Amino acid sequence: MAVVSTSLASQLSGPKSATSHCPQFSGLRRSCSKLDHSLSLSSTQSLIQNVDSHLRLSSSRRGCRGVVTMAGTGKFFVGGNWKCNGTKDSISKLISDLNSAKLEADVDVVVAPPFVYIDQVKNSLSDRIEIAAQNSWIGKGGAFTGEISVEQLKDIGCKWVVLGHSERRHVIGEDDEFIGKKAGYALSQNLGVIACIGELLKEREEGKTFDVCFQQMKAFADAVPSWDNVVIAYEPVWAIGTGKVATPQQAQEVHIAVREWLKKNVSAEVASKTRIIYGGSVNGSNCAELAKQEDIDGFLVGGASLKGPEFATIVNSVTSKKVAA
Ligand code: PGA
Repeated sequence: MAVVSTSLASQLSGPKSATSHCPQFSGLRRSCSKLDHSLSLSSTQSLIQNVDSHLRLSSSRRGCRGVVTMAGTGKFFVGGNWKCNGTKDSISKLISDLNSAKLEADVDVVVAPPFVYIDQVKNSLSDRIEIAAQNSWIGKGGAFTGEISVEQLKDIGCKWVVLGHSERRHVIGEDDEFIGKKAGYALSQNLGVIACIGELLKEREEGKTFDVCFQQMKAFADAVPSWDNVVIAYEPVWAIGTGKVATPQQAQEVHIAVREWLKKNVSAEVASKTRIIYGGSVNGSNCAELAKQEDIDGFLVGGASLKGPEFATIVNSVTSKKVAA
């Protein structure tokens, strides 16, 4: 599958290239310019300035102090989305692998088992790893056959819920407004939200990646009471479960744009604090290169989270964010 390579930095920088400030973008100058059709001139200009100053800042931080390469200030976050997989036996084995894995301390680690196994996981998994649900109802529980309420999730020990996942959007048919309502309600009850966004392959090819992601961001922004307990997961749909991971540059350019969007539309503080994690065919072999990108604050992992040792490798890829002094 030909996945269009789009480089925000190269598209936006024009003759005075922002890439000159940041070597990680240097291989991308010939990339497709479709994405900037989706940006108005003024927003393009402001993104140029913001991206340019961001890159200069990051580059000087790296060069001078040799610090962790993170543009955001939030702790690295890795979630395992088990989706509709597993049996009592396979989950017991996974839990025992996770309990014996050595996990770096400076990472928030979360797993999202299928609802029916949450209790089993809660009772046997180390407290080091928090539990997320894969969905929640839009309001207080009651006569809603087949649904599961935020109150019930909290009662059973969940700290998080994954909302807006592409499988809910594109297979089940949930729309932005419905997802926003779920997020607003979960947050109002102090359940953290892993808020997923991401474009279809067709949308990327049509140059609509930013339009789609920003629209999904806006739906969350319109509905959430606060961003304190929100982690954004950028998951390009074409990369989910396909084995076709986004390149580190493809992921970084969307992450930096989402952070800029937060800065412009919410606040600089929220932009810097909010974790923006990447999902879509992350595995033990590609996580380190992705983690090196400054605006990638962790991962949402599907298939590879079903294997304890591989998931631990992904959690521990936080170490590749640290650069030599
Ligand atoms: P994948 O799924 O890692 O299997 O591609 C990611 C996700 O859907 O969160």
